[in-house]
Amino acid sequence: MMTDLAAQLAGACLAAFEAEGLDARWGAVKRSDRPELADFQCNGCMGAAKQAGMNPRELAAKIAPHIADNVAVARVEVAGPGFLNIVVTDAALSAGAEHVRTDDKAGGQAAFAPEKIVVDYGGPNVAKPMHVGHLRAAVIGDTIVRLLRFMGDDVTGDVHLGDWGLQMGLLIIAVMDEQPDLPYFETDNTGPFPTAPPVTMDDLSRIYPSASRRSKEDEVYAKRAQQAVAEMQAGRAGYRALLKHFINVSVAALKVDYSFLDVAFDLWKGESDVDPLIAPMVADLKVRNLARLDDGAWIIDIARDEDKKDMPPFMLVNSRGATGYHATDLATIVDRVEQIGPDRILYVVDARQSFHFEQVFRASEKVGLIAQDRLEHLGFGTVNGPDGKPFKTREGGTLRLADLNTLALEEATKKIGEAKLSSDMSAEERGVIGKLVARAALRFADLQNQRTTNYVFDLDRFTSFEGKTGPYLLYAAVRIKAILRRAADNAHKAGAIVVASDEERRLVLALDGFALALRLARDKRMPHYLCEHVYGLAQAFSTFYAACPILKQEVEPGLRASRLGLCEAVLKQLETGLSILGITAPERM
Ligand code: ARG
Repeated sequence: MMTDLAAQLAGACLAAFEAEGLDARWGAVKRSDRPELADFQCNGCMGAAKQAGMNPRELAAKIAPHIADNVAVARVEVAGPGFLNIVVTDAALSAGAEHVRTDDKAGGQAAFAPEKIVVDYGGPNVAKPMHVGHLRAAVIGDTIVRLLRFMGDDVTGDVHLGDWGLQMGLLIIAVMDEQPDLPYFETDNTGPFPTAPPVTMDDLSRIYPSASRRSKEDEVYAKRAQQAVAEMQAGRAGYRALLKHFINVSVAALKVDYSFLDVAFDLWKGESDVDPLIAPMVADLKVRNLARLDDGAWIIDIARDEDKKDMPPFMLVNSRGATGYHATDLATIVDRVEQIGPDRILYVVDARQSFHFEQVFRASEKVGLIAQDRLEHLGFGTVNGPDGKPFKTREGGTLRLADLNTLALEEATKKIGEAKLSSDMSAEERGVIGKLVARAALRFADLQNQRTTNYVFDLDRFTSFEGKTGPYLLYAAVRIKAILRRAADNAHKAGAIVVASDEERRLVLALDGFALALRLARDKRMPHYLCEHVYGLAQAFSTFYAACPILKQEVEPGLRASRLGLCEAVLKQLETGLSILGITAPERM
């Protein structure tokens, strides 16, 4: 297997430090900060010399020849206080580019030790409309699934619907008040019940907010909702049948919103699916003395001696006999262990839920399900408005995902018009392209931020064809496709890549960074490393294309073939990277 140059040089460098009896970690290599001087650099000599009481420049002079031995290296120079500046050969770059062009993974590498991983993301709540926060869970989670899968992990993505909490009780009583004669509300009716749902998605979106508001002001109403959830959880047939309808109606609507963003799930399970596992789980924990009765509730103690903060117990069953967010999450781990047996479970959920996950993970470890260090909460920041506060619509409400998609499509269509793109296409083709641009805009705007930070929602900027945006990247890919199409029309073929000019070298060095970007993105569970990479690659292509003519008459055929080969390599890697980000470029635009 051919590794990237950065990794190959790091290998040589690590060995060089070891050969001098020093710690291998000093051999880390990165792309040079001064591309006009070198391609890569190693800064380890200063630290290593300090630790070993040596002179850093003398040490660098000893290390340099070891690195220079590597076939990929043209020369190594000691600079300043002891930097090692490394220049690679044109031949190594040419071979690297050729590899990207022919490799299935476009130069991306497989994971070092693939794992079986469950990713829990999306987490929309039945009936409650999804809001921009759920956009992040969906887009980041879907991207992590694509990334891990690309690198060879065995991944199962689960939407984990919120379909077991108080909102279900609110819906039940609200429907009861509107349509009291439905069979679901007859006390002793055990079914069968009608197969057609008694409500539409519009009904649910209308009913839920008003029921939720009322429950906050009207205590009797809130009690009725609690009672309804308790009965539903206890298995009342009519309520269970209603729950199924609510879920089916919601899931159909969710699938539409998610498909706009090209977000997919392997499993459409929800909290309610693990209900049958809860009673046996609680019974087992009682027998094993892991659960104890406290003021009428069944709890698990998860505090530890070394805790600095207060760690309240884990709530299995509350004093009203109901189970909530804690119990469903623990039972879901039981289910995943039994059904899938993962090495790890990743939860892509708002950072504000970190305490909840700390509790769930401790409980999982305590009861012997999965160790805490194999459960990861991948928290993300908030989507804010221009005022820096969580994003709200002009009317002051949270923006629903469906409306967000529509807004993004409108804005993308406007930008396509302004940029005078797609003007020769049919309305239908333009519609398809508008969707691809809107999706690229929303996904890239989210993913390019470091996952844990907040970002400001700005559709105008997200949909722009200029700057660090999804549409810019689509434009870059489409431009390369146009070059290759024109070449084919003129019977110009791509051929062996021979790197010569500075712009070509930098473009291939950019290609070389793909493997590292993927490794970082996977190791840190941070898609923005990949965003940085594809953006840098698109920019390097732009610089190359401005300086290196390809199709012009005067270009010598061998050079043209090489540059076309380079175009193919770049397009392949760009589209591979974009596909991991869930972004698809059209053929023309
Ligand atoms: N439904 C939850 C919410 O909207 C998110 C669920 C996250 N996943 C989990 N296993 N708890 O806040």
